[in-house]
Amino acid sequence: MNQALLQWYAGAARDLPWRRSPSPYGSLVSEFMLQQTRVETVLKHHERFLVRFPDVETLAAAGRDAVLESWSGLGYYRRARLLHAAAQAIVSRGGFPATHADLLELPGVGPYMAGALGSIVLGLDLPAIDGNLERVLSRVLRTHATRPALTKLAQEMLPPGQAGDWNQALMDLGSGTCKPRNPKCGACPIVAHCAAHAAGDVEAFPAPKAKRVVPQRVRVVGVAEKAGKLLLVRRPDEGLFSGLYDLPSAWVEGEVSPEAALNAAWGPLRLGREIGQVDHVLTHMKIHQRVFQLIDFQCEIEAPTAWVDPASPAGVGLSTLTRKSLALLVENPG
Ligand code: ADE
Repeated sequence: MNQALLQWYAGAARDLPWRRSPSPYGSLVSEFMLQQTRVETVLKHHERFLVRFPDVETLAAAGRDAVLESWSGLGYYRRARLLHAAAQAIVSRGGFPATHADLLELPGVGPYMAGALGSIVLGLDLPAIDGNLERVLSRVLRTHATRPALTKLAQEMLPPGQAGDWNQALMDLGSGTCKPRNPKCGACPIVAHCAAHAAGDVEAFPAPKAKRVVPQRVRVVGVAEKAGKLLLVRRPDEGLFSGLYDLPSAWVEGEVSPEAALNAAWGPLRLGREIGQVDHVLTHMKIHQRVFQLIDFQCEIEAPTAWVDPASPAGVGLSTLTRKSLALLVENPG
């Protein structure tokens, strides 16, 4: 199987920037970006990030707000903070780790990423089981094995000395051919080695995951305006949108009015007109956000603040939800 797979990869590998001129730092950045995020989305950000932070030293020395600003639009901002911390760890240890164990010591690097970086960057014989590999291998082996068990099986299957290509070949196969629904088995280079295909039940592998019920929450944000600029406040270091700049916000629970909710969180204020509403879906919740004009905002804010132009907010990290809310204002200036 491995020969057919690697031969196919030699001709069909996706042309991705971090593959074109591979470097430990470029791969570190791409792997952090690719966690939970599609290749197409990462393509839009990877190059820009590397222009702004061309090497690990520059990233390690950068301020947190600059890193979060460059991460804007990629979501899962915890990754940006962990990547920043990983860069700082690499600089303080005096270079990129050279072993699997040292990779696992980096902030934000778990078994998958240690396998990916170890195999692709260091040439180590390590599997990198992400969702794509899990799907392809569970079909090839026709097994419902858990991820740790699949990792052991993959360790035995991979071709020594070529694990980086093997992992990436399976990633590409999983994303373009061995898809969750309607896999293109006719175009698969390893169909002859696929036990699930032989049994005619490819789509039964891997076992479907139980669907999580995602709660919907209502959030209210207030827009305080001064000379055409809006007040943003940096969020705490932990929790939702940590470290990003946000409009003053509060959750609206039960029968509480938006004004009372903001009042409880921020002190004396009154709400003016409702500028609009936006919806935003995260992995663990759906947010319905109501955006109001703030008047008589008298709160003393301890967290860092910024006044930004809603049409071109620069210099601070913003969530997509905040961007959508600022866009409402630009479209609907009142
Ligand atoms: N997803 C995660 N890492 C990847 C890589 N190196 N190539 C393609 N897709 C990926």
